[in-house]
Amino acid sequence: MRIVTFKSHEEMSVFAAKYILNKVKSYSKVNLGLATGGTPLRTYELLIDDFRRNFTSYQNVYTYNLDEYCGIAQNHPNSYHTFMFEHLFNYINIPKKNVHIPKGLSDDIHQEARIYESIIDELGGVDLQLLGIGENGHIGFNEPGTPFDRETHIVKLTESTRKANSRYFESMDHVPEKAITMGIASILKSKEILLLASGESKAEAIYQMFTGEPNIDCPASVLKNHPNVVVVADKQAASKLAPIKV
Ligand code: PGA
Repeated sequence: MRIVTFKSHEEMSVFAAKYILNKVKSYSKVNLGLATGGTPLRTYELLIDDFRRNFTSYQNVYTYNLDEYCGIAQNHPNSYHTFMFEHLFNYINIPKKNVHIPKGLSDDIHQEARIYESIIDELGGVDLQLLGIGENGHIGFNEPGTPFDRETHIVKLTESTRKANSRYFESMDHVPEKAITMGIASILKSKEILLLASGESKAEAIYQMFTGEPNIDCPASVLKNHPNVVVVADKQAASKLAPIKV
């Protein structure tokens, strides 16, 4: 696991966008794992800028989102489905059939999770997985305590995650209590991982993931077990690492 640090969120986003574009341009077909949240927003804007200026094609890009809230429809303003179309897919030439986002409304949500995992496997697995990190060290919606061998599954969101995400909802009461998420084992199957961390609120999680052995109290620490992980952080997110010189 290596870390690259930048002075600002803007600089780290430029790096992340270039990293993704390099994959999209270098291979005839790419399976990209994508994340939602505030951190990758600027990266997505830069991909859209590039598409407008350079017409980089996404015809042969297939995407797999990490997670989705349970109990809300795809067209709900706060669904991750809506987020991805409003912040990226509507502005690039990706065919809709290439987009995969777990469904949070289903008669059998556990079956939905199994189907999602098998779709990713059958289509060749994720080549590059983009991740954010929660203040509590979660990746996807894998909260602290999630066993490392879980594949796509249903989770009960912790109060801290619901609180962090309540900024997008009318009130805390409107934040869903459950989500469907790729598991830690699903994430570890990706060939390469790019984790983005921005801001002081992520400093403790970044410190925990780099220090000590992988442990389920900090889900992101499992990435030490993966051979190809790049952590992209701004100086605030990396601030607690400075004394240990990673
Ligand atoms: P954020 O979310 O980018 O909005 O901070 C990251 C996450 O919770 O994984």
